[in-house]
Amino acid sequence: MQFTVAIDGPAAAGKGTLSRAVAEKFGFAHLDTGSLYRAVGVKAEAEGRDPITVAQTLCSEDLARDDLRTLEAGQAASKVAVIAEVRHALLQFQRDFARRDGGAVLDGRDIGTVICPQAEVKLFVTASAEVRAHRRWLELGGDEAQVLAEVRARDDRDMNRADAPLRPAEDAVQIDTSDMSIEAAVAAACEVIAARIAQGPQG
Ligand code: CDP
Repeated sequence: MQFTVAIDGPAAAGKGTLSRAVAEKFGFAHLDTGSLYRAVGVKAEAEGRDPITVAQTLCSEDLARDDLRTLEAGQAASKVAVIAEVRHALLQFQRDFARRDGGAVLDGRDIGTVICPQAEVKLFVTASAEVRAHRRWLELGGDEAQVLAEVRARDDRDMNRADAPLRPAEDAVQIDTSDMSIEAAVAAACEVIAARIAQGPQG
């Protein structure tokens, strides 16, 4: 059975937690596509290499680095993510993952719009910049005002790039998690997915 759930949204909107919970609930595989861009950005910066070559030769060890979740890695990711050749190098891997047998959840910025426009379910998860920065600050610590500035800088870069900018697909269901518990957000997402599964393969 092939069934793709595309979960897009801005930085720290809760896509990661939501995606993992949904994947577990339905027994689907999960791919955090941001980790691909983080790995390219961090490796290219650390080794002073061309991000396009790094993206073309990315391997599983690069994805297992323990420094991918930092604020710096997020910024490095969003800088290499504007390069069309980097996005192109990562595209087929994501598409193959999405159509694997048994169902897949992919979270990112352009899953519903570019990677999997035919996804059975598309969710767009948002929250206010302040709420998102607060969540990221709880996760990483540091100076909350700086975390907010970084979130805004990344939003700006992700939404205004020429190639695959962050935006909801026309047929995406939007979930604003600003005033929602994670349990409520998971329940809302599961309801949309269960309804789509109940419609059967043709939808
Ligand atoms: O976890 P968080 O929401 O903070 O970010 P992420 O999903 O790990 O993504 C890091 C960066 O990678 C984003 O700010 C985007 O610039 C880029 N990205 C992208 O361009 N396309 C994707 N499908 C996923 C991430």
